[in-house]
Amino acid sequence: MADKNVSRKIVISPENHPFHSHEDEAILDAALREGVQLPYGCRGGTCGACKAQLLEGEIIYGETEPEALTDKEINTGWILCCQARAETDLVIKIREVSETKEIPIKTLPSRVMHMEQLSHDVMGLWLKLPSTERLQFLAGQYIDILMKDGKERSFSLANAPHDDEYLQLQVRYYDGGYFSEIVFNEMKEKTLLRIKGPFGNFFLREDSDRPAVFVAGGTGFAPVKGIIEHMIAKGDKRPVSLYWGVRAKRDLYMDDLARSWAEEHGNIEYIPVLSEPMKEDNWQGKTGFVHDAILEDIRDFSEIDVYASGPPIMVESVHKSFTQYGLPEERLYSDAFEFAATSKK
Ligand code: FES
Repeated sequence: MADKNVSRKIVISPENHPFHSHEDEAILDAALREGVQLPYGCRGGTCGACKAQLLEGEIIYGETEPEALTDKEINTGWILCCQARAETDLVIKIREVSETKEIPIKTLPSRVMHMEQLSHDVMGLWLKLPSTERLQFLAGQYIDILMKDGKERSFSLANAPHDDEYLQLQVRYYDGGYFSEIVFNEMKEKTLLRIKGPFGNFFLREDSDRPAVFVAGGTGFAPVKGIIEHMIAKGDKRPVSLYWGVRAKRDLYMDDLARSWAEEHGNIEYIPVLSEPMKEDNWQGKTGFVHDAILEDIRDFSEIDVYASGPPIMVESVHKSFTQYGLPEERLYSDAFEFAATSKK
């Protein structure tokens, strides 16, 4: 990886799995940025979930003391990955999280710190966890909001794990939808919400270098945003095509962001698709169902990974049509069905 900011090579023993840290970057931050899953909890030096053994090299701590380590542990080579920075190349021993089921599912309080109407019917929420807690998750996974009366509602996380000061959600308004009515009509900043997660199998397959086609429908854009921001942070250069299907131009609530990805990264292309463009849209781009629009461009999916996020009917159409054009079923990634089953608006 030719990046002048890369300063240290960190190798996880015994797997010999390397990643690189920038200057002034904690080992855990570097791992998250590169998609290496180390266990963690608070990211603040207090819980001890990120303990590792330093086998080779030198580390330093910043201003925060490694509170979760005893003197004995410090003297016998234990370090906290969320606080330690590499002074030299390192070899560390720590158990990598290799499956989502190894990521702890937590129930936590959170506070809505910021609300922003992203379009006529989508609200962005920025949730903050208590200062001693962070939620470990893979980009693209979702959380449940636990409501006071026992109802729950699932939302994908729109941020990537390296950028986890706030958990970002994108909530679409549904007439009569239990949670969306609250969000649009009652909720104020500072509201407390109980969350549970992370869940879901919609995350980047890190070990593939095949081109990736992302199919997002409506607010299905949210987890795709998390994954693409993770790929950019990681320097993942596999070809990415993002097709975002919505009704009209006003529904492309982060169009500028998606365009900026394509402008700044040669491996990313962005194709918005409108199913019912409005007259004032003066739309020259693709129209119709998003899966049909993709089939106009791609006729052979045998060497492509497809990530589909949106309404179950969209994912079903993607599944039905793309498998006829060579997409192996196991390379269509989505949690639309699991998601729909657990969602109660
Ligand atoms: S001490 Fe909690 S994640 Fe490092």
